Amino acid sequence: MKPMPDNPFLQGYYEPLTFEATAPDLVIEGEIPAELNGTFYRNGPNPQVPPANEYHFFTGDGMIHAFRFDNGRVSHMNRWARTARFKIEREAQRSLFSGMNPLETPPEYLDFVLNDKEGVANTSVVYHGGRLLLLEEGHLPFEMDPDTLDSHGAWNFYGKLNTTMSAHPKVDPANGDLLFHAYMASGPFSDDLGYYRVNRDGFMVESHIFKAPYASMVHDFVVTENYILFPVMPITGDMNRAMEGKPPFAWQPDVATQVGVMPRNGTPDDIQWYEGDACYVFHFMNASDNNGVITFEACHFDSPPLFPMADGTPTPPNVHPYLCRWTLDLNAASPRVKFTQLAGHGAEFPVVDPRYAMRDYTHGWYTSTDGKIPALIPDSDAVYNTIMHFNVKTGAEDAYAFDSGYVSEPMFVPRDGAPEGEGWVLSCVYDFSTNTSALCVFDALNIAAGPIGRANVAHRVPVCFHGTWKPAG
Ligand SMILES: [Fe+2]
Repeated sequence: MKPMPDNPFLQGYYEPLTFEATAPDLVIEGEIPAELNGTFYRNGPNPQVPPANEYHFFTGDGMIHAFRFDNGRVSHMNRWARTARFKIEREAQRSLFSGMNPLETPPEYLDFVLNDKEGVANTSVVYHGGRLLLLEEGHLPFEMDPDTLDSHGAWNFYGKLNTTMSAHPKVDPANGDLLFHAYMASGPFSDDLGYYRVNRDGFMVESHIFKAPYASMVHDFVVTENYILFPVMPITGDMNRAMEGKPPFAWQPDVATQVGVMPRNGTPDDIQWYEGDACYVFHFMNASDNNGVITFEACHFDSPPLFPMADGTPTPPNVHPYLCRWTLDLNAASPRVKFTQLAGHGAEFPVVDPRYAMRDYTHGWYTSTDGKIPALIPDSDAVYNTIMHFNVKTGAEDAYAFDSGYVSEPMFVPRDGAPEGEGWVLSCVYDFSTNTSALCVFDALNIAAGPIGRANVAHRVPVCFHGTWKPAG
């Protein structure tokens, strides 16, 4: 195999692994709590061969890392998702489908790309209804065995899901329902959204397709006890623009944000759309509603990274997301989405106590930076080396910054029967000095004390996007 091309998203903590391995008993420093039992899955892009076209790190082959916690011991496995695309490229021993633009595909594979149901399965992962599903918002979910990580293929909920599925489903702690949305639901660059509800046993019980105000990348959505919200922000998608040789996806700051609000017991006919200023959010932390006033916390970009302007020129450099409260008062004379900055530091990959999802809550955790480690990516924010706990009621911060570490999305695991926020925060941390990673465990309400235990992996775990926790049993 040739070396990876000169692309910052293929170097350092992004550099793909070239192997799959099983490490049955990682070396532990400190102490892993004996009552922390289950599996922490992480999913991220790990191209198996050097990309042929300009690489976008949303397009690498999905690889799952599974950390299994068992009475103070931790094992680690990594496996590629053996998608249709993965198998074709493995057979060909070269890259065929690497770009964001499907029109860059060799002509003989274009029909495959346009009809492929599995994609690269590289963005997120959820365990629900007895199935481990890898999610990548452009295609169907991809099922893997939760224990062996053997690939099972695309899963369509017994034939009921005929669109894509987003990478950010929500589980309602009240009943175990899985709620999710789809964007560009009728095909690449379409302006259709989908909304689905799957019951705790894995059966789809609600399914809708409806029009968005415009075709855009709707990465995440928002759920409260009484409402479903569809935030449509202007990273627009346009096939005609792509055919003119311009970016298929682009930031259009002259286009307003629109948030669609649907009652939980309603249908798309009930959706009302409300405007806000142009902005972009990849990830919302949590949301609640109180007498028609909806509030939700977001990792908010004034303008987004990673995507160009519609004419192909770059967006402003050195942008960073910050924690921002969105408020929508449905009782107002002319409701509009309003933004209030909560903290100035960088904020991405937010999580909450899952028992308080969709409800009034106090505690959130996310990745941040103290600005001390320069970024590997030119013109981008400093390395995210900090785990942050933020009290959304008081604004109190509780942070730990690694001297030479890149932190990944935290995962909160509650202690059985404990009040909100009591439990542990897990994060897979890359160490620049050793080019290896460690799974670090924090006391969730005392992040500043640093990890109470770490399980050392003998090699790098490349940057992953999202993960999930499956309790033992
Ligand atoms: Fe995401």
